[in-house]
Amino acid sequence: MKEIKPILSTHGLIAGYGDFQALFSVDFEILPGETVALIGANGAGKSTFLRSVMGLLPAAKDMIRHNGEPVGGSKPHAMVHKGFAMVPEGRRLFAGMSVEDNLRVAIDHARAGTTGGASWTLDRVYGLFPALPSMRKKPVEKMSGGQQQMVAIGRALLSQPNVLLCDEISLGLAPKVIGEIYEALPAISGAGTAIILVEQDVQRAQAASNRLYCMLEGRITMSGKSSEISRDDIGRAYFGAGHAMG
Ligand SMILES: Nc1ncnc2c1ncn2[C@@H]1O[C@H](COP(=O)(O)OP(=O)(O)OP(=O)(O)O)[C@@H](O)[C@H]1O
Ligand SMILES: [Mg+2]
Repeated sequence: MKEIKPILSTHGLIAGYGDFQALFSVDFEILPGETVALIGANGAGKSTFLRSVMGLLPAAKDMIRHNGEPVGGSKPHAMVHKGFAMVPEGRRLFAGMSVEDNLRVAIDHARAGTTGGASWTLDRVYGLFPALPSMRKKPVEKMSGGQQQMVAIGRALLSQPNVLLCDEISLGLAPKVIGEIYEALPAISGAGTAIILVEQDVQRAQAASNRLYCMLEGRITMSGKSSEISRDDIGRAYFGAGHAMG
């Protein structure tokens, strides 16, 4: 049997801000096309983990691997070129620009020579999020938070990623639009893109993922198949030993 290699893995990954250490020896892996959720309380280190993987924080070469190749310490633009795309917390769209112009920026900067998977186009993004086509000329700041989130995801896809890093894509949004966003995820992973889903909503994270990692104070406290993890397992990993979820 041919072993499938992780598209991304981290090995004893550490990171911090000045003297403050935020990640302690994080071991993580995700296979091509897999959806992996990363949960944990506020301040656990989830965003720091995504930033480290994107090259926004320093890392030693061997701490991060892409298809087995050490890539730690690469600059963010180099990580984008390798096929990593982040949907950042708070979306960070270009205000004053329309939906379509926000998306076109990504097309203009898309990496050349995509490696397998789907080749995302404007039409495919509009197909993925049916709410968007009628708003293509609208300035993004006039749209709802959920619609903006769709643009942010679309923009990330147009860089033709093989790993999509999503930081709390449902935070502060209405349940209906969260549903619409989550419905799009299987089409993204089905096209071959691995998804790392940082999510505060534990149940949603579990339902939407193949595997799940939980972080507490900068450490991975649990990982496993999402369908096999119990509520108690998550409670202990989320809050530390001795606690259970209410
Ligand atoms: N720019 C920064 N400078 C200094 N410390 C930071 C910075 N960003 C995060 N931290 C600290 O690093 C730790 C991990 O933060 P991080 O933002 O990664 O957590 P998180 O799991 O994403 O939390 P949240 O759910 O609130 O987004 C926290 O203690 C936080 O205060
Ligand atoms: Mg965060």
